[in-house]
Amino acid sequence: MASCASKICEVKARLATTGSVTVLTGAGISADSGVPTFRGADGLWRNFKAEDLATPEAFARDPRLVWEWYNWRRELIATKHPNPAHYTLAEMERRFPRFWLITQNVDGLHRAAGSRKLSEIHGDIWKVRCTRCGAVTENRDVPIPILPSCAGCGGLLRPHIVWFGETLAAEDLARSFAALQQCEVLLIIGTSGIVYPAASFAPVAKQAGAFIVEINLDATPNSSLVDVSLRGRASEVVPELL
Ligand code: OAD
Repeated sequence: MASCASKICEVKARLATTGSVTVLTGAGISADSGVPTFRGADGLWRNFKAEDLATPEAFARDPRLVWEWYNWRRELIATKHPNPAHYTLAEMERRFPRFWLITQNVDGLHRAAGSRKLSEIHGDIWKVRCTRCGAVTENRDVPIPILPSCAGCGGLLRPHIVWFGETLAAEDLARSFAALQQCEVLLIIGTSGIVYPAASFAPVAKQAGAFIVEINLDATPNSSLVDVSLRGRASEVVPELL
């Protein structure tokens, strides 16, 4: 079995000869910045129930509770900074002529690191959306006053997050699938690979002939179909790829 060091050499060699890279990230890339993941030993879904906090029904039932939870997460994330993995992906965007980053993370750390060619498919914790007029605005108040209302129409604001049971923005999906079908190399970093539609992204890229690399602390459902699995911390492994 090839050593991890030689696997990194193989990935570097691939990256050196390609102009087309797509990246899919999940909570694991921000774990090294101190942002909790969702699953695993210290994951958020160990202590909180997603159906109480991250569904449209939960918000309709108890918007105050949902906002309190998001306020807690906003306070936590506000103190965190991008790590070397986030910065390396921002550098890749500058180096590769065709590059797209698809993130499931809502923490804004990719943007903070300088990434601009990205789809934040699960939304952005620093944006709010009016439940009445639909206006989406940036809001960095920490804490946000509960219950927040729309400056335009007075309607109740909600987090601009894609909750369980909701569909992703059509534009994000179209952009993501195009990037998956067109890339020569796909990097999958720090995602458990079980939440759809992102769980279907690796097979799409594989079908289209991409060389797929997974960077994760553990094995995931994607591990069996990727070309190279790099087990380790994103903040240490990803910078080694450039
Ligand atoms: P998960 O919490 O499900 O998975 C995190 C993954 O990161 C796991 O596979 C870990 O092994 C890996 N990991 C943890 N620390 C790491 C590190 N330092 N370096 C590399 N890998 C590491 O997070 P996601 O896959 O992002 O949805 O979860 C997907 C979605 O489920 C989230 O976007 C969220 C959640 O419910 C919404 O909030 C809408």
